[in-house]
Amino acid sequence: MPDLVPRARSSQESIFARMSRLAAQRGAINLGQGFPSAAPPAFLLEAARRAVGTLDQYAPPVGLPILRDALGTDLGVDGADVVVTTGATEAMALLAQALYGPGDEVLMLEPVFDIYLPQARLAGATPVTVPLRLPEEDGWMLDLDELRAAVTPRTRALLLNSPHNPTGRVLTREELKAVVALAREHDLWLISDEVYDELYFGERPLSLRALAPERTFTVGSAGKRLEATGWRVGWVACPPGLAGHLAGLRQVASFCAPTPLQAAVAAALPVARQSGFYEGLREGYAARLALLADGLRELGARVYLPGGTYFLMACRPDWNAETLLEAAGVAVIPAGAFAAKAALPPGLLRLAFCKERTELEEALTRLARWAKSSSA
Ligand SMILES: Cc1ncc(COP(=O)(O)O)c(C=O)c1O
Repeated sequence: MPDLVPRARSSQESIFARMSRLAAQRGAINLGQGFPSAAPPAFLLEAARRAVGTLDQYAPPVGLPILRDALGTDLGVDGADVVVTTGATEAMALLAQALYGPGDEVLMLEPVFDIYLPQARLAGATPVTVPLRLPEEDGWMLDLDELRAAVTPRTRALLLNSPHNPTGRVLTREELKAVVALAREHDLWLISDEVYDELYFGERPLSLRALAPERTFTVGSAGKRLEATGWRVGWVACPPGLAGHLAGLRQVASFCAPTPLQAAVAAALPVARQSGFYEGLREGYAARLALLADGLRELGARVYLPGGTYFLMACRPDWNAETLLEAAGVAVIPAGAFAAKAALPPGLLRLAFCKERTELEEALTRLARWAKSSSA
C-alpha cells in the first residue's frame, strides 16, 4: 500500500475532540469543548424548519445573497465583501490559503487557538507566536514591544483573536491601534478572529476592522453567536474587492455551507439583534461565570476572569486535566493545549461555562468530593 504524505501522518485528534469523546465514554461533566448544552433559540430553529424543503440545493460559493446582506447590515459592511463559510474554522483555513505561502511568517498571540498553527503550516508558512504573559496579580498582558520585535521581512500577516480563546482577553483600543500602526508600517494583512464578538462581560470589544478596513479580514461564527456550533455557518468580512477570490478558493473544498442553515441564520440575525437575544446571552453567561469562578476559588484555585468568551482559566498547581477527568469525572482542557513555545504555570486549565447551571454545580460538587478524598 502507498504511504500517507507526512502532513496527514502528523495529524491527530484534537484535544477538544478527545476530551469530548472521553467525557462521553466516562460519564464525565464536559467543561472541555466550547459548545453550549442549551438548545439554540426558537427563532433560529423555526427559521431552519421553514428553509428545509424549500432551499435544499447548492448555494453560491460566496454565500446565499440574503445571508450576505443580513451580515452586511449586522456588521456594518457592504454585503458584497462578505463570504459565508463552513464555520469560522473554514474561514480561517481559507485565509491561510489566500494570504500566506512558503517562506512567509504569520504572527499570532500565544496561548493560541489550536487550528491556527497547522493551518499556517499547511499553507507552507511559519507561525510565529508572541506570548501573552500572565503576571502574578493581573490578567494576561500583551507586550507590544515584543510584538513589534517579532516582525521580520518575511512577516505577511498578523492574526488576532479578541475576545481571545482560551484566556478571554479583550484587546483594548490602544493595543489595536498599535497593531494597526505596525501592520501599516510593514504592510501586513490583519486577520481578526471575532467569533466571540457578542460574548463579553465589560465594554463591547472593538472590531479591528473599524480601525483598518483596508487590510482587515474579520471572521465570525453563527455557531458561537446563535448557540448552534454544529450548523457550521461562519463568515469572513473582507477588505473591498477580495470576497470573490476567497469564494474561488472555497468552491474547490466545501463549495458552500448548508443552504437551509444559511437561510435560517439570515432570518435569525436581525431577530437576535433587535430582540435583546445577545443581551440575554451575556446575562446568562455572566451568572454562570460567577457560579463557576466562586466555586473554583472555594476549592483553592486561582481564577483568571475573562473579559469575553465562555471560557475561564483557573490554576491549582496540583491539578491536571487527566486526573480531573479520571478521578473527579470532570473534563477540562489543559492550558498546554494552547501553548506553542511559552511556559505556562502548572495546573492551568481552561473550563467552559457554556453549560447548564446544573452541570456546573455538579462539576463543582464532583471536584469538591474528589479534592476532599484526595487530601484525606
Ligand atoms: C477562537 C475561535 N476561532 C474559531 C473557532 C471555530 O468556530 P466554528 O465552530 O464556527 O468553526 C473557535 C471555536 O471554538 C474559536 O474558539
